[in-house]
Amino acid sequence: MSAIESVLVENRVFPPSEATVLAARISGMPAYEAMCAEASRDFEGFWAGLARNNLVWTKPFTRTLDESNAPFFRWFDDGELNASANCLDKHMGTPVENKTAVIFESDDGNVTRTTYRELLGKVSQFANALKAEGIRKGDRVLIYMPMTLEGVVAMQACARIGATHSVVFGGFSAKALQERIIDAGAVAVITANYQMRGGRELPLKAIVDEGLAMGGCESIRTVFVYQRTPTACNMVAGRDKTFTEVLAGKSSECAAEPVGAEHPLFVLYTSGSTGKPKGVQHSTGGYLLWARLTMDWTFDLQPSDVFWCTADIGWITGHTYVAYGPLAAGATQIIFEGIPTYPNAGRFWQMIERHQCTIFYTAPTAIRSLIKAAEGDPKVHPDRSNLKTLRILGSVGEPINPEAWMWYYKNVGGERCPIVDTFWQTETGGHMITPLPGATPLVPGSCTLPLPGIMAAIVDEAGHDIPNGTGGILVVKRPWPSMIRTIWNDPERFKKSYFPEEMGGRLYLAGDGAVRSADRGYFRITGRIDDVLNVSGHRLGTMEIESALVSHTALVAEAAVVGRPDDLTGEAVCAFVVLKGQRPTGDAAKAMAKELRDWVAKEIGPIAKPKEIRFAENLPKTRSGKIMRRLLRSIAKGETVTQDTSTLENPAILDQLGQAW
Ligand code: WT7
Repeated sequence: MSAIESVLVENRVFPPSEATVLAARISGMPAYEAMCAEASRDFEGFWAGLARNNLVWTKPFTRTLDESNAPFFRWFDDGELNASANCLDKHMGTPVENKTAVIFESDDGNVTRTTYRELLGKVSQFANALKAEGIRKGDRVLIYMPMTLEGVVAMQACARIGATHSVVFGGFSAKALQERIIDAGAVAVITANYQMRGGRELPLKAIVDEGLAMGGCESIRTVFVYQRTPTACNMVAGRDKTFTEVLAGKSSECAAEPVGAEHPLFVLYTSGSTGKPKGVQHSTGGYLLWARLTMDWTFDLQPSDVFWCTADIGWITGHTYVAYGPLAAGATQIIFEGIPTYPNAGRFWQMIERHQCTIFYTAPTAIRSLIKAAEGDPKVHPDRSNLKTLRILGSVGEPINPEAWMWYYKNVGGERCPIVDTFWQTETGGHMITPLPGATPLVPGSCTLPLPGIMAAIVDEAGHDIPNGTGGILVVKRPWPSMIRTIWNDPERFKKSYFPEEMGGRLYLAGDGAVRSADRGYFRITGRIDDVLNVSGHRLGTMEIESALVSHTALVAEAAVVGRPDDLTGEAVCAFVVLKGQRPTGDAAKAMAKELRDWVAKEIGPIAKPKEIRFAENLPKTRSGKIMRRLLRSIAKGETVTQDTSTLENPAILDQLGQAW
């Protein structure tokens, strides 16, 4: 059954319980519909009111939305504020001041608690250290940190002084770091000597050293090193400074620097359809507004909640729902350094019980792997932990298959917790299409309806609306505050990627296919329509992996990368490779595949390693020389090729490609 067919037959509906509706911030569908109607009636007034009521402005804005230079939209642009002040200072003198901001659990199970007052002190002190190293408003700072409190402190400290951070996930390679440092023109790196994951000590600083040594990184003046483990690391005199060193004698007070609402809070690199990652630039005002609001709307946040988003700060989810949203909302949140399967695959469930978590937000890939683990070993089943405190569950990063949804609903949520299946992207800054826990009847596998003010629609290739029940292209028709502002250093690519002329130049193109159900108009995401893969919720460009493969110039002549469905990781990377030498078979092919997988890990990072590599003497090409990726996708799935192959220059190659080694 295809993904689209399964939508049509999905008729299980789970409305929120009456008690949930009554207690919720957005209570019942009529309340949701009223908000949508308000946004349609007075679009700018709707957003202006929310921005005034939910953020602290040092200078109030008078203009809400400036469309004069579309698609470079500007929101609240004559207003001034500071993101860190809106996450920390704003709570001082309120009951939140002495509330726990962060419950941190380390890889080895050590727990520490930090109040909002204490966090403000840490952030301010680190901000002073950044300033002492000459870092100023507008400078870019690259952050390559473990998933610890210090990572969040580093982000908040940058925001506090108006420096633009660019966080790189700790699983990316030296080469990836170097490219991002150069593109962003970063003046400093904040890193740690090592990171701890699943009981293993993995280097970070050594990778920074390697990246910087690749050249072109002359803009970097300082490397800040957090000593996460006792193991020593290489330190370059004059350039590298430990946290202890830079924090010594620094005051824990630092006035937050007001910045314009459009000031870039951060640039986060993500994969696109070319080999080069895109630096997605986000604003301060609009971004923070949405981080703050979606905590209330999507998660129905209440003062007593214990919120846990399991994402790493290296991804957008960790930006919006760890580093900014929960703090702006004054929530208590859990930050977890480790991995879900260490010391055993019951870790998440045990932590929910230990910290009395009430809102749990994770990725379908984690759920699927924990289902598998629980089926294999009853000791790590969620029923071994007391999960009674949970009241809302969330899913993010990729489509959740209805079977995984049902398991999550029954075994984790006790059939009592609504699941918010949140569709959004690095570019959207925060949730776009998601159920509201106290309003939306849930349908497994559907992200349901857009948030109020989000004008999502499904169109055809020319940008025209298409009827419910028919698959098409997901777009957003009006700008929204937390949208991507531009691609760092590449405004042309921004326009081309997200506001293509072919579709009229005014629609935001998400890059996903979607279908709305005929009965309720619910959205269901059917997957990327561009050359972007989603492996375990991580976004990878097929071109990026191809470039990495062909950069092995000694071995590789040509490569094509496609995705294929995978039960555990959603999609898996499958590479077709033509070597310069003879096509290897048997053990030689195995050894060669290993070498190339390691090569990709070194070029991009272990997350980009192809699951499968097939060798051929050539790739299927049209007579004009274009690689026929459609065919490769079928072959990767193990399907017999039924497509028309008459335009193929070399049909004989199909047999060879069909043989796995
Ligand atoms: C792509 C964006 C959202 C933050 C983490 C990923 C896919 C994301 C869902 C969902 C179906 C989803 C889309 C999207 N995606 N959430 N709930 N249902 N698909 O951010 O790395 O920018 O990836 O992830 O394909 O375009 P990202």
